[in-house]
Amino acid sequence: MAKILMGNDKGIAEAAAALSDGQIVAMPTETVYGLAADARNAGAVAQVFAAKGRPNFNPLISHMGSFDMAMEYAEYDERAALLAQHFWPGPLTLVLKRKEDAEIAENVTAGLETIAMRVPAHPTARALIKACGFPLAAPSANKSGTLSPTTPQHVQNNMGEDVPYILASGKCKCGVESTIIDLTGEVPVMLRPGTITQEEIEALIGEVETEFEVKEGQQPKAPGQLLRHYAPNAKIRLQAVDVKKGEALLGFGSVKFMAVDEVGAASNLYETRYQNLSETGDLEEAASNLFDMLQKLDNGAYDTIAVMDIPDVGIGIAINDRLARAAKNS
Ligand code: TXA
Ligand code: MG
Repeated sequence: MAKILMGNDKGIAEAAAALSDGQIVAMPTETVYGLAADARNAGAVAQVFAAKGRPNFNPLISHMGSFDMAMEYAEYDERAALLAQHFWPGPLTLVLKRKEDAEIAENVTAGLETIAMRVPAHPTARALIKACGFPLAAPSANKSGTLSPTTPQHVQNNMGEDVPYILASGKCKCGVESTIIDLTGEVPVMLRPGTITQEEIEALIGEVETEFEVKEGQQPKAPGQLLRHYAPNAKIRLQAVDVKKGEALLGFGSVKFMAVDEVGAASNLYETRYQNLSETGDLEEAASNLFDMLQKLDNGAYDTIAVMDIPDVGIGIAINDRLARAAKNS
């Protein structure tokens, strides 16, 4: 069993001591829980890859305490400075050229000449990085390919014995992973949508290309793009307008018109079969509930989760990206 540490001074100090000692610790961030290691320590980082069952060609994000700390490890330009000034601390990951002498273990960046980094906003994560004094390499704290964890309980359920410590600090606010933007080329490329939207980024640095999927015959820009992602055990059926026998329902907004085979109205369903991302149709609320509700419905009783249509705007783009990947595995 993992040792649960509270997100108070004592818990943070114990987590920092374990990390300094080369151990791995699950930590809260504002997006999802991360599985952290000292980014300078290749042995500690190797434990993260092993615990997740993550292929070693897929690099990790380094979590920094500040912009100044981040720029000790990367070359930056005006665009990076502008984005960092507006969105750090927060759910934005920048891919930059790694400094040649950067004291970051090679396995963090999977041997690439680039480095992905962000300054998390979660107060517990910030306090932890401060107490450590070194960057924390941290992917999401789940087995490779499965749903990301947004509560300490998810980490425990998903990772079991494979994580020695969980620094617990409730439910993550954003609920989907950070927006990733690659600034190593002339034109910035968004590699993963998140709560910070393309429009918000373009308002600061001009036009941005998107590359959420790998184009045929091309090398993936984010090495993780080719991998299986967000796969629940149940199948996912998108843009559902009804609920069939053997299906659970993940709702969004009003379910007044959702007919359910043999039961009638969706509102008659038990919560093991029906969850609503946001009854009022609020996309932020929906994002923060997404992985939690998918896990609740992925309880073995239903072979498919029918998901109602979610508008493909703003944070809805990130939600639909994760759902589409989950459905692909269906
Ligand atoms: O919100 C988040 O970003 C969370 C929390 C814990 O910070 N972390 C997270 O990490 O989602 P992970 O490992 O699940 O996703 C990191 C993604 C992967 O798709 C990886 O391929 C990509 O970032 N990545 C890392 N380094 C990269 C690099 N140098 N160039 C391109 N993509 C990179
Ligand atoms: Mg992940």
